Amino acid sequence: RSAVYYAEIIRNNGIPLPKEDEFLYGEFPKNFSWSVATAAYQIEGGWRADGKGLSIWDKYSHTPLRIGKDATGDVACDSYHRIEEDVEMLKSLKVSHYRFSISWSRVLPDGTTRYINEKGLNYYERLIDALLAANIMPQVTLYHWDLPQALQDVGGWENDTIVQRFKEYAEVLFQRLGDKVKFWITLNEPYNTAYLGVSVRPGRAPYVVGHNLIKAHAEVWHLYNETFRARQGGLISITINSDWAEPRNPHNQEDIEAARRFMQFFLGWFAHPIFKNGDYSEVMKRRIQERSLAQGLSKSRLPEFTESEKQRIKGTYDYFGLNHYTTVLTYNLNYPKGVKGVATVTDRSWLGSGSLWLKVTPFGFRKILRWIKEEYNNPPIYVTENGVSERGAFKFNDTWRMHYYRTYINEALKAVVLDGVNLRGYTAWTLMDNLEWAVGYEEKFGLYYVNFSDPALPRHPRASAKYYSQIINCNAHLC
Ligand code: NOJ
Repeated sequence: RSAVYYAEIIRNNGIPLPKEDEFLYGEFPKNFSWSVATAAYQIEGGWRADGKGLSIWDKYSHTPLRIGKDATGDVACDSYHRIEEDVEMLKSLKVSHYRFSISWSRVLPDGTTRYINEKGLNYYERLIDALLAANIMPQVTLYHWDLPQALQDVGGWENDTIVQRFKEYAEVLFQRLGDKVKFWITLNEPYNTAYLGVSVRPGRAPYVVGHNLIKAHAEVWHLYNETFRARQGGLISITINSDWAEPRNPHNQEDIEAARRFMQFFLGWFAHPIFKNGDYSEVMKRRIQERSLAQGLSKSRLPEFTESEKQRIKGTYDYFGLNHYTTVLTYNLNYPKGVKGVATVTDRSWLGSGSLWLKVTPFGFRKILRWIKEEYNNPPIYVTENGVSERGAFKFNDTWRMHYYRTYINEALKAVVLDGVNLRGYTAWTLMDNLEWAVGYEEKFGLYYVNFSDPALPRHPRASAKYYSQIINCNAHLC
C-alpha cells in the first residue's frame, strides 16, 4: 500500500477504502457544479404562515396513522423562518449551487393565479437574494410533490386541466423570479407522483397521471423557451429518478431482457418521450397493451399521445436531471397468458442503509450514467439527488455516509473520465435531516444533523458535511 493510500485513510477518518485499483484519482471538469438539495414540504414548516394554502401533504400528514409517529411538516426544520441559518450552512459546505423547491400553495393558495400570496413569494425572493449574495446559484424545482389541496379536490394530476394550471403557476415564477434564477426543474421524480401517488388505486390512474405530468412539463418548457429564455437565459428541464437494474444472472437472456424492461418502465416512462421521440418506448406500449388485454380490458391502460402532442413533447429539455440512489437485480416474471413481467431482488451482501429500498451499490451509478449517455444521445446530465439515510445512533460521525459519497462520487468521476459521460453537476441529498415523507423523521439523510427534540431545532454538521466540502474544495477526492 502506498503512502497516498494511508494518507487518504487518515484524511477520511479511517473509513475502509476499496482496493486501490478500484479507485480513480482525478478531477471533475472545470465549472462542475456542486450542489445540495432540499424540498419545500420536507424543511419549511410554516404550514399556515402568512396566508399559505393547504397542500395534499398538509392534509395527508394531518390524517391519523398515515405517517410514521404521526409526524407532520407543520414545523419541520422551520426553514420558512431561518433563511440566514440555512444560507450559513450552505456557505460552510462551499457548494456552488443550492437546489430547493417552491411550495405551490404558498405562492398560489388555491393553486390558481386568481390570488398571488405576496408574502409567500417574498420568502423565496429573500432566499434567492441571500443565496446570490453568498455567490450560490439557486436551482429551483417548481413541483416537489406538494400539490395545492384545492387542485387535488378537482382531480389533481388525473384531471387534464392541471396542465394549464401548472403553466400559469410557472409563468408567475418566471416573471417574478426568473431574472435571478438560471436553473429550473419543472417536476421532481414524476415516477413517484404517478406511481406512488395513486398506487392505492391501480389500473389506469398512474398512466393518466404520468401522461398529464409529461404534457405539463412540456408546456412549461415551451413557455420558458419561447417567452423567457431570450431575456433570462437560464436552463430548464425535468428531474427523473431511477434505480439501476442489473440482471440477476448476467448470463441469462431472460434476466437481461427483464433488466432492459425495468429501465424502460422506470427511467424510460418519462425519459423516452422527452429525451427521445415524444412517445413511450415500444417495450412499454407493448407490455401494457398485452397485460391490459390479458386482464380482459378492451384496450391498453396506457393513454396515447396524438402526433402533434408527440412533436410538442419531444426534445423539451436543456439537460437530463437524474435522481439516483440504488440498484436492484431483475429477473423475468411470467404472468398468465404468456405476458412477461419483471421481479426484483437485492444481493444479501450489499450494505444497507436506514431505508429498506436503499442498498449501497456505487457500481450502478456509473452504469446508469452511461446508459443515459447511450440511450438518449449524450445529453448534458446534472445529478440532482444522490445520498444515503441512516436511523438512530450515528449522530455526528457518519462514516457510513462518507463511504457512500466517496464511492458514488468516484463512480461518477469514472463515468466522466473513462466513459465520456457529459456530467455537469452533482447534488447531495440532503442539506439537513428533514421529513422523509410518509416515513417521518426517522430516516435521516442530512449532511447536517437536526435535533428535532429540542424546540430550538439546532443543526450541527456531521463528519460527512466536512468530507463533502473537502471534495467540493478539491473538485476531486484529494488535492
Ligand atoms: C427523492 C425525493 O425527491 C426526496 O424528496 C426524498 O427525500 C429523497 N429521494 C430520499 O428518499
